[in-house]
Formats: sequence, structure tokens, C-alpha cells
Amino acid sequence: MSRTREAYRNLDRLWKRGREFLGCECAILGGAMSWVSERNLVAAVSNAGGFGVIACGSMPPDMLAAEIAATKALTDRPFGVNLITMHPQLDELIDVCGAARVGHVVLAGGLPSSASIKRVKEFGAKAICFAPAPVLAKKLVRAGADALVIEGAEAGGHVGPVSTSVLAQEILPAMGRAVPVFVAGGIGRGEAMLSYLEMGASGVQLGTRFVCAHECIAHPRFKQAFIRASARDAVVSVQIDPQFPVIPVRAIANAGTDRFMEVQRSVIEKFHRGEMDQKSAQLEIEHFWAGALRRAVIDGDVENGSLMAGQSVGMVTSEQSVREIIDEFIGQALDVLDARAAHAAAAEEPQGAL
Ligand SMILES: Cc1cc2nc3c(=O)[nH]c(=O)nc-3n(C[C@H](O)[C@H](O)[C@H](O)COP(=O)(O)O)c2cc1C
Repeated sequence: MSRTREAYRNLDRLWKRGREFLGCECAILGGAMSWVSERNLVAAVSNAGGFGVIACGSMPPDMLAAEIAATKALTDRPFGVNLITMHPQLDELIDVCGAARVGHVVLAGGLPSSASIKRVKEFGAKAICFAPAPVLAKKLVRAGADALVIEGAEAGGHVGPVSTSVLAQEILPAMGRAVPVFVAGGIGRGEAMLSYLEMGASGVQLGTRFVCAHECIAHPRFKQAFIRASARDAVVSVQIDPQFPVIPVRAIANAGTDRFMEVQRSVIEKFHRGEMDQKSAQLEIEHFWAGALRRAVIDGDVENGSLMAGQSVGMVTSEQSVREIIDEFIGQALDVLDARAAHAAAAEEPQGAL
């Protein structure tokens, strides 16, 4: 299907604010993914016209400084850095971003303090924050957040309980005008991206769809697991006892998932038999997945590692370049706009006599 100029103009109008805020051609953020979103994928997303984001994860400040410098060597386009708010050296990491003149800092993994938001803005960067509920969206904007990401439960990695579609309905009408809002979680095709833009989003954030990019350094077995999986394979971690909380993480089920259930059962039984105190039992549960994402992404241990992935994994069917993925999204959005225009034009044509 040939795409009309009108469709390009319409799409451009829909994500203009997001594009201008990020300083890139298309308002598609490459959602930061620990171990996955390093220099190669980040630069590839930015070079393809999107907005790459480095996942700092648990990196110490000197490593983050090196990663930013290495990314700059691969792209002269803007990219951001995602910092986890509970990192013990958060302030130092913000300072590293400041020294490197990073334009956008994403504060993730819990509500950022207003002091952290202020620290980011003090060196002239934009602060982007995750808003898990309408009331928190307002609070974050009052605290100085320049833009919001709303990420639904369909997403890969750590997730909240509310779906993307509901968060979008709750937050976009109220906040979409106040600040740019980027929608994340379960977006696998351009039609979905377009629908969120039409609801008032300024752009979208994709994670899972970029994992199988040629430019992504994830282990070939990690990518294969994504290509094989369907949406229903990407499940949220299960907590078996309310006394022992489990952080909800969406990942492709594997042998590790089964073993996690056994470990929970076994330590909880030990606790009930008085062989373990509650704190040690909780710690054993929490430590189960320590280092597991690295084992899967870097070492390729897809049986015991953590295969964090969103439900959109069902739409990952092959390895592609980042540019192909972005072009596919744009093409799918343009096709909808063109089909709609064609439909409207046909409806306006005078009807012949029957
Ligand atoms: C393997 C993996 C690792 C992730 N790591 C992080 C992270 O370190 N920080 C973060 O804010 N989000 C992280 N995310 C979430 C992504 O940034 C993004 O918001 C999410 O993947 C969007 O949903 P989608 O996977 O349905 O596209 C991760 C997601 C995946 C799949």
C-alpha cells in the first residue's frame, strides 16, 4: 500500500510534541532494559530516528560514565539514561549524567524523590518519571517531572498491576496536555502505537520488540527464546503466600520459574516448622533471581536465568534491524491513517442511482 503525504503529516502532528521533547525524528523510546540496553542497542535506536535509553541498572558511577562515552562514540544523536531510584549511589549517578551533559534522565524503579528530580533538572536535563497511577502522575508533575512514562502490566520486567489500556484511559486525558506522556507495555505493532497517540500520548516506549534487533548484544539463545514464545508464555512471577511478598516480574516461563515455586514452598514450610525465621525465609525468596537476568541475556542460560519479556513477545517473530522495526511501526500506523482517509473519501463520493 502506498503511503500518502497526508498520512505522514498526520502522524507527524500526533507525535510532534514527543519528537520535539526528545529531539528525535520519531517519538519511539527504546525502553531501558538492564544488560540489553547498552551502547550498541541504544545508539542503534537513536541512529534509526528513535530515542535510545541506557539502562544503568546496578552499574557503579564510573561504569555508567564509560557507557555514556562509548554510546556517544556510536551516535551523535540524543539518547537518555535510565537510573533506578533505589540505587545506593543515585546522586553520584545523576552527577555522572550531568558531567556528560545527558539531555534526558529517566528515573525508574519506584517513585523518585523531588530532590532527585531537582538534581536532574539542575544541570539542565529533562526528568522523565514513571507514573503508575493518576494521583502519582499529578504528584510527579508537581514535583517537576518534565514528562511521564505510563507502563502497564503487559510490559516485560518489573510490572504494576494495571494494564496499559486502563492506565492510558486514566492518565492521558488528565495529564496528556500538561506534559508529554509516553505509553509503554504490550505495544507490538504500529496500529497500537497510533491508537495511544490518538488518545493523547506524545509517544511510546518499546522494550520487548527491540530485544531481537540485530544490533542487540543479547545472547542468541535469549533471542531464540523470544522468537519461539507466544504472548501467553510471558507470565508474571507468582507469590504463594501473602506473608512472603514476591516482586511482580513478567518473564517467559522456564525451568527457573518452576524452581522458584519449589523454593518458595520449601522455605515457607521451613518457616512454619520453625526451622527458619521470617527474615531469612524472605531473603532466600528475594535472592532467588539475583543475577538471573544477566545469566540469561549475557550467558544464554535460558533455562535458569530470567527471560524478562512482555506479552508483545508473541509479535517478535524474527531478528530484524532496529531501523526495520521502527519502519514497520511507522508503516503500520501510516496504513491505518491512509485506510481511514480512503474510507472517508469513498463515503463522500456521490452514490449512483440504484
Ligand atoms: C529484559 C528487560 C529488562 C528491563 N529492564 C528495565 C530496567 O532496567 N529499567 C526500567 O525502567 N525498565 C526495564 N524494563 C522495561 C522496559 O524499559 C520497557 O518499559 C518495557 O519493556 C515496555 O514494555 P514491552 O516490553 O511490552 O515493550 C525491562 C524490560 C525487559 C523486557
